[in-house]
Amino acid sequence: MVYPIRIIGVGPGHEDYITPAAKKAAETADLLVGSQRSLKHFLYLKKETLIIDRDLPGLVREIKKHQTDKRVAVLVTGDPGFYSLASYLKKYFPRTHLELMPGISSTQVAFARIGRSWENVRFISVHGRPLNKLLPVIENYGTVAVLTDNINTPKVVADYLKDKIKGDPLVFICDSLTDPAEEIFETRLSQVYQATKNSVMVIAYE
Ligand SMILES: C[S@@+](CC[C@H](N)C(=O)[O-])C[C@H]1O[C@@H](n2cnc3c(N)ncnc32)[C@H](O)[C@@H]1O
Repeated sequence: MVYPIRIIGVGPGHEDYITPAAKKAAETADLLVGSQRSLKHFLYLKKETLIIDRDLPGLVREIKKHQTDKRVAVLVTGDPGFYSLASYLKKYFPRTHLELMPGISSTQVAFARIGRSWENVRFISVHGRPLNKLLPVIENYGTVAVLTDNINTPKVVADYLKDKIKGDPLVFICDSLTDPAEEIFETRLSQVYQATKNSVMVIAYE
């Protein structure tokens, strides 16, 4: 028997944003795979754990090894369908072997915090990705939400865009969402100074 691998979205950080369905799925797993940050929510279950590091081929080998004797659950931040490890795992496992469980995405929380709807927004990530993908997107959409990281911080993104795009759009920087250190900044592109590490940056022309 080959158990399906569950990829569970555990939300942006705070335990209150983990769905009851995600909790139940973690409870029924034999092996929990995730970052230290995600795994800490489930320490009380005293399950066998595997920490995700940079060796992703090694992770795939390890999961394949256990697929027949353990129910494996992979914990990912936010929602698994949005810039997560699920995209990588899909290359190595047939679709029928993967079961995605939705979570609350950092972007959902970001738009709730700034009180805006997100049905017409274009989402893009510069988390570990080049900045040049941003330009065509910013030029074609009124509002763009950008996943930044500790290298491509909001300030780096703003400095890159400043002389390349029209006007001086509104910018919201939604940092450390749902964590006690959460901060929301509202400013203009020309005024961004935040080099925050874990942010959703919303750039809006309207
Ligand atoms: C690899 S992506 C994962 C996105 C995730 N699947 C989701 O749905 O939110 C990581 C990026 O998501 C954003 N992110 C994740 N958690 C966040 C949080 N608590 N506060 C702000 N941004 C967050 C940051 O831009 C971070 O660099």
